[in-house]
Amino acid sequence: MNSPATSDALKPEEVQSEAMEHEENQPETDQTEGPRYEEDFMSGPVQTSSAEHEQTADHDVKIETRDLNVFYDSFHAIKSVDMEIRNQEITALIGPSGCGKSTLLRCLNRMNDEIPGARVEGEVLIDGKSIYSNETDLVSLRRRVGQVFQQPNPFPMSIYDNVAYGPRLQRRLSRDEADEIVERSLRGAALWDEVKDDLRKSALDLSGGQQQRLCIARCLAVEPEVLLMDEPCSALDPSATFRIEELMLELKERYAIVIVTHNMYQASRVSDRTGFFLLGELVEFDMTTRIFEDPQDDRTDAYIRGRFG
Ligand SMILES: Nc1ncnc2c1ncn2[C@@H]1O[C@H](COP(=O)(O)OP(=O)(O)OP(=O)(O)O)[C@@H](O)[C@H]1O
Ligand SMILES: [Mg+2]
Repeated sequence: MNSPATSDALKPEEVQSEAMEHEENQPETDQTEGPRYEEDFMSGPVQTSSAEHEQTADHDVKIETRDLNVFYDSFHAIKSVDMEIRNQEITALIGPSGCGKSTLLRCLNRMNDEIPGARVEGEVLIDGKSIYSNETDLVSLRRRVGQVFQQPNPFPMSIYDNVAYGPRLQRRLSRDEADEIVERSLRGAALWDEVKDDLRKSALDLSGGQQQRLCIARCLAVEPEVLLMDEPCSALDPSATFRIEELMLELKERYAIVIVTHNMYQASRVSDRTGFFLLGELVEFDMTTRIFEDPQDDRTDAYIRGRFG
């Protein structure tokens, strides 16, 4: 029988808030405006793999936004966005700094509720049901829609306890059950082989790339349906970035994934659909191949070619 979480434990929404705070306290690693891919790669038109991407056109819609608007006090940060996020796909959100990508992402698990002065209007439907209705249980919403941040934010505890943390808040676990969840989640995040002999080691002693995969494992442990990733690789080196990208491609078989990235090559390599934002407006949303090879809006074209930021 399920038992409630003990009263001295953090609730999952507090875990999320703590994670947010932790993220906000981190130093910014990249303040560059606009596309940053030229820093890491040779510039030039981005090549995408059409065959791989176009097979994914028919997956079910998991999340739908309808006339979604976000205000920070009187500032209109997201302007009437209609967008569909599909199962078994990676959806990339791109656009210059300050265009509203993180704000949009936070609407999808109601993390904007935690921000004073933030107001959301319009609808976000998950599996056809509004998540902004009064009946929505925020704890269960944030379990279903997990989030990974720009800076890896493991808790100051062992690798094992980081992964078991969320499930232990949901119910009392036997040792065997916890072992099974920890192994499954670490395997799912492609970290198991590297840490299986060191599960009691502090998570803070892992490398940045390992910490980011641990944070992904922590999300997977509570069996989410959607993964939100806000610039998950911007603090990582190219090889750690490559591992996370490979992992995303594996994970999309089971989840709907939304990634915010400033790296055009990353968007084109991993995503199936891409949305280009500018000043809070969703300028263009389409298959990734179309966005990068035949954008319909001049502003999208200028952005992906690095002509403005
Ligand atoms: N808590 C807040 N209070 C007031 N304004 C905010 C807040 N958070 C974001 N904004 C404003 O909303 C707009 C969108 O911000 P957001 O962080 O969503 O942009 P972004 O596209 O994620 O940018 P970046 O690429 O730099 O992360 C910006 O003008 C920002 O200044
Ligand atoms: Mg952001």
